[in-house]
Amino acid sequence: MVAELDFAGAPARKQPRRIAVSAGAFAQAKRVPKAKLLPFVGVLFASKPHPPSFFVRMAREHGEIVGFDIAGKPLYLVNHPEFIQHVMQTNAGNYRKSDFYYRLKAMFGDGMLVTENEVWRSKRTLAQPSFRRHRFDHYCQVMAECGDNLCDAIEAETRDGQPVNFVPKVMAAALNVATRTLMNCDLAEDKDRFTEIITTIMVQSEKRVWSLFELLHDLPTRARAERLQAIADFDGLLYKVIKDRMEGRSSHDPAGPDMLQMLLDSACPVTGEPLSLSRLRDDFLTMVLAGHETTAVSIAWCLYMLCRNPEHMATARDEVDRVLGGRQPTYEDLSNLPFVKMVAQEAMRLYPPFWTMSRAALNDDEVRGYRIPKGTTIMLCPYVMHRNPEYWPDPEKFDPYRFTPEAGADRPKHAYFPFGTGPRQCIANHFAMFEAQIMVAQMLQRFDLSLHTSEEVETEPMISLRPKGGIFFAARPRRR
Ligand code: HEM
Repeated sequence: MVAELDFAGAPARKQPRRIAVSAGAFAQAKRVPKAKLLPFVGVLFASKPHPPSFFVRMAREHGEIVGFDIAGKPLYLVNHPEFIQHVMQTNAGNYRKSDFYYRLKAMFGDGMLVTENEVWRSKRTLAQPSFRRHRFDHYCQVMAECGDNLCDAIEAETRDGQPVNFVPKVMAAALNVATRTLMNCDLAEDKDRFTEIITTIMVQSEKRVWSLFELLHDLPTRARAERLQAIADFDGLLYKVIKDRMEGRSSHDPAGPDMLQMLLDSACPVTGEPLSLSRLRDDFLTMVLAGHETTAVSIAWCLYMLCRNPEHMATARDEVDRVLGGRQPTYEDLSNLPFVKMVAQEAMRLYPPFWTMSRAALNDDEVRGYRIPKGTTIMLCPYVMHRNPEYWPDPEKFDPYRFTPEAGADRPKHAYFPFGTGPRQCIANHFAMFEAQIMVAQMLQRFDLSLHTSEEVETEPMISLRPKGGIFFAARPRRR
């Protein structure tokens, strides 16, 4: 039995373990049952229009593991916590990120999300101190300031009773949190252009990741020209922020060195040289892109589910009023807002922002008696696992009380992994939870929220699990 390790916050110094499987054990292991679909591209057609629901159905029909053929290569969908633990943690050394991630390199460069081995390790080790306890008070203060601005923006727009699409507003707020905490830059002047650039990059990244023929995206089309322009503009903004800091025209916040300063003061552990501009660009682009949209959609889904479940809304609001009494939340308050945290956890169970992840096997392996041949892509899908009725009875029901310590005591840890697990677990998992708790608390403090229509908001499974068409709230300022 391998000890459970929580990698978040731990320096990434060690090579992930690789457990070799003997040829005999591999030969004796069972073959994975295959879904009966057309060969080659069957899964891509069958999973339209909503891949997450299709994979939930496949898991219900086939059990803990099922195989597909995707462009002539095996893809296994797993639906048991032991597979998640084995692939992402216990035997993580035998798996690399799948080719889907490598498609992101056209936009993300060599950022932490898509690199491996020494390069990844050096990035993770240098970035990790920015996500430790000594920065949390400051981060929470920035989050609360951005949350206040978000509430002001909503109040200004909803004054005449108009419903407001909350999603772009919370995206802008989360973007501001990311740039202020990581680089101490407000981007207020360039906000609209920055948001536009990021939207272009994200939409095109998403199309590329899910495309049948990736190389089509490199043909000289208008979309490609727009993508290249957006990347060039993003680089321009980012290089300006970095150069201003290098040349003393800006500084880190008074609370202490931010991630930009720490990276500028570091040498690359591999070459011993100062970090290059292009490396800094890849790192910050990844942080900003990986960080803001995921957090923003999780906050949006949280408030949506509270509006649909008035009894939980009332409990959350009572907690917020009792603990905060109308003042801005701080880091110290978060441990006194357990119900708001449980609401965020349950919203991320039903709507995991990173709805699926995948890995490719570097060598033959065996898990739970099944054969995993070298080269197989393993799909690790929180959207599916978080709906497995064995661990989540009545899985579609929104019930924050699933996350009390007692309710979770007998549940395997890897039945829930919105932030991934093992050495590649989200570096900012605590940061993201703080942001969700703080902004949800502020919205409940300031507004009586209701949904504009009673129709269910559908999910749009892109890189993150977005609310399709946005979420429109009527937000009436609360009277005290
Ligand atoms: C609710 C919000 C968030 C969710 C659900 C989330 C989810 C994830 C997941 C599932 C992974 C692992 C991907 C994999 O193993 O293939 C990941 C990695 C990562 N996340 Fe997050 N994330 C969130 C917020 C953030 C924020 C706010 C930042 C930065 C400020 C961030 C930065 C990163 C980075 C750099 C990685 C790559 C880590 C590595 O490969 O070592 N994330 N995230």
